[in-house]
Amino acid sequence: MASHTNFRLHAFVWLALATTAFSLSPKFYDKVCPQALPAIKKIVQAAVHRERRMGASLLRLHFHDCFVNGCDGSLLLDSTSTMDSEKNARGNFNSVRGFEVVDQIKAEVDRVCGRPVVSCADILAVAARDSVVALGGPSWKVRLGRRDSTTASRTLADTVLPSASMDLPALINNFKNQGLNQRDLVALSGGHTIGLSQCSIFRNRIYNATNIDPAFAKERRETCPRVGGNTNLASLDPTPARFDTAYFKNLVKKRGLLTSDQALFNGGSTDKLVETYSLNPDAFWDDFAKSMIKMGNIKPLTGKQGQIRVNCRKVN
Ligand code: HEM
Ligand SMILES: *[C@@H]1O[C@H](CO)[C@@H](O)[C@H](O)[C@H]1NC(C)=O
Repeated sequence: MASHTNFRLHAFVWLALATTAFSLSPKFYDKVCPQALPAIKKIVQAAVHRERRMGASLLRLHFHDCFVNGCDGSLLLDSTSTMDSEKNARGNFNSVRGFEVVDQIKAEVDRVCGRPVVSCADILAVAARDSVVALGGPSWKVRLGRRDSTTASRTLADTVLPSASMDLPALINNFKNQGLNQRDLVALSGGHTIGLSQCSIFRNRIYNATNIDPAFAKERRETCPRVGGNTNLASLDPTPARFDTAYFKNLVKKRGLLTSDQALFNGGSTDKLVETYSLNPDAFWDDFAKSMIKMGNIKPLTGKQGQIRVNCRKVN
């Protein structure tokens, strides 16, 4: 009986240690470099002040990092003779941006900390949060302690990043493969309350879709011709520099810019949640923050795994 209890106690203590030692914590840099988080915030604020869109671009970087083999900074690695960068994947090429700001953050954080102790993967997670806050959205405690990968995979990025042409079942399945549910899908898609997209991405929808407000389609066609103008930009919602609920209000009016946006309000299982978020900023705020933490927990490298890169663009 006594040894039974003892065994259980041992098992419990071991489990508690195993899960705390190798899971992320908001306090990870509190002792080793308390200046790190304020330094990141300062640079993000300055970058967003210079160009509001940068907040959107930085949020997207964390998402595209986490979906490809976990939040491990793999997206930031440039190509080498033996490795093709994820920056060249279909969903990233000529589309993701903000790498210079990440470089600037990394240099400043390493300077204030006196040595490279903050991972590039953590920088992306914190910069995403600080960007959302800078554009008027919710805040949350970012769990930290991710380490950086020594590899990247363009081919994996090609298969796992969701595409703008996906319908609802495809989106649900895509997020499910990352351990994210329908609520996470709708809340995180709310990231499209900020930022822009290129004509080549939404052209098919504005010329061919039937689940679109005709006045909205007409307006978008003015700057996105059938032929040419591929890189012309349009905002993903009417207030692309403000983290608000306009994205969801817009979906209810069939004014989603991407096929994958309107798929969330198209007579399917996520309609109700879109409506809820459109009417209730607090509900969106809460769920967005929760789902960002959940996304940030996807397969991190921790403990002695990976490394802390000196330069986010290359392996040490
Ligand atoms: C649900 C599946 C998703 C799809 C299919 C998707 C697709 C896209 C596409 C096609 C663009 C425009 C790219 C371009 O025109 O170059 C874009 C932009 C953006 N996405 Fe997503 N996205 C998804 C989910 C998310 C999530 C989960 C987030 C963050 C939480 C996010 C954040 C952003 C932001 C902020 C932009 C604007 C970036 C900028 O202006 O630089 N997206 N997305
Ligand atoms: C509209 O759809 C047709 C048939 O799928 C396609 O051939 C055409 O290229 C599309 N038009 C645009 C502008 O995307």
